[in-house]
Amino acid sequence: MTSARSFGNYDLAAALADLIDNSITARAKNVWIACRYNGGDPAVSITDDGEGMSPDRLEEAMRPASSNPSEERSPDDLGRFGWGLKSASFSQCKKLTVISRKSGIAHGAEWDLDAIEDWSMGILEAGEVDAIATHEFPADHGTEVTWSNCDRLSENWKISSQAFNELIVHAMHELALIFHRFLEGKVDRQKLKIHFNGQALEPFDPFHTSHNATQPLECEPLEVSGSRVEIRPFILPHFSKLKEHEHERLGGREGFLKNQGFYVYRNNRLIIHGTWFGLVKHAEMSQLIRISVDIPNTMDDMWKITVDKSDAQLPSVLRMRLKQIVAGLRQRSTRVYRQRAGRINDPTTEAVWTRYTRNNEIQYRVNRDHPIVAQHLSSDSGKEASAVMKLIERNFPVSSFMDDTALRPERLAQTAASRREITDLLEATLPRLLHECGGDKQVMSQKLRQTEPFTVNWPVVEEYLQNHGWAA
Ligand SMILES: Nc1ncnc2c1ncn2[C@@H]1O[C@H](COP(=O)(O)OP(=O)(O)O)[C@@H](O)[C@H]1O
Ligand SMILES: [Mg+2]
Repeated sequence: MTSARSFGNYDLAAALADLIDNSITARAKNVWIACRYNGGDPAVSITDDGEGMSPDRLEEAMRPASSNPSEERSPDDLGRFGWGLKSASFSQCKKLTVISRKSGIAHGAEWDLDAIEDWSMGILEAGEVDAIATHEFPADHGTEVTWSNCDRLSENWKISSQAFNELIVHAMHELALIFHRFLEGKVDRQKLKIHFNGQALEPFDPFHTSHNATQPLECEPLEVSGSRVEIRPFILPHFSKLKEHEHERLGGREGFLKNQGFYVYRNNRLIIHGTWFGLVKHAEMSQLIRISVDIPNTMDDMWKITVDKSDAQLPSVLRMRLKQIVAGLRQRSTRVYRQRAGRINDPTTEAVWTRYTRNNEIQYRVNRDHPIVAQHLSSDSGKEASAVMKLIERNFPVSSFMDDTALRPERLAQTAASRREITDLLEATLPRLLHECGGDKQVMSQKLRQTEPFTVNWPVVEEYLQNHGWAA
């Protein structure tokens, strides 16, 4: 039992998710999670209103490897190795107590790794169960798992309340993602509610399908040794179409670049996300691509699902097909970027570059009338600025650029500015610009609206102006 402590690579979210899997399999409608700091000696309880277990079933469930991984499971069963309850719990704590009620009969069992005398499981009778149950523990049927003596979770009782809070916030985000389809009610079962420290978890859809600029592409079903795998690619909206909070949430802690790739769902439960399985690299131009992959629990062996359900490997029979799908998508995602910046022919906007033709010769030049450029040219260091601009124009790497546009256009990321670059530019230039507009914010806003790169990123600019006191 002590060895179960090192199975898998659970963090708090993954450990909780494994218990929620059990609740879902037991057809729970509600799961209540309470994680209390408790002065540095945290206590965690996970309660559900699922079917519950009979006393015999509960004692069986508490044993290691309580089911055989190669046995066929019902198609909506989220379990696998018969280890989850034990390995997830002991990855966080040393004492595991489970109480359950079925057909009105309450029963409890516990393992305490510090006190396993003669290797026996502690048994709790109905009276003892009532004494420890939280007020959420249902009166008719349900199960409650309690973790105490949480040495891992508390980092040997050294964790600060702030660090503990951060863990909780992270776990809430992860669970909102892992179970988003259940929380949205998109799975063929009753909608699931997860109450985390008294707060209802809102589902987090990593594809932002409710946004009208998200491009859902056609679903492709693949047959692999008699099982069906569904591939559904999405291209997320360019940041210029998102509100800042949407952009932050979709990017997550690690940003869009890291979160591109496959999102693998096993029976609708997300097990792995933001990976390309080594098929392609995480690249700037593909950062808007996310592909959901749905697999049934009959393919666990083939996908090499780990005990902690946090990892999987792409079966080799799928590699070729997925690689082709990804290649096609990268072109489309690139287009979302490329269409945006660097246009020079629109007479209504002040572009950064201009194309000059004289005596049959073509030259690309920096537009001296562009407001930010003009600002520099008219400043005290205008002469130097002009010289530097000439230097850049004259040394434009023409032939290398031609090669790239001809041979690998999908990899050109020249104009893929980020939200941050836009706001940095605004921060650096607005004070002078406002001054030049005679202090009139309305005039300044109109000018920005007709100036690259603000024109094509207008929602971002508008939000910045409003949030930083520049709006008229
Ligand atoms: N919340 C729960 N409600 C009802 N039954 C449960 C619950 N948690 C665990 N069980 C029972 O305990 C068994 C063992 O769980 P677990 O160790 O997670 O392994 P697995 O999920 O792979 O079967 C489950 O198969 C199920 O019968
Ligand atoms: Mg399980």
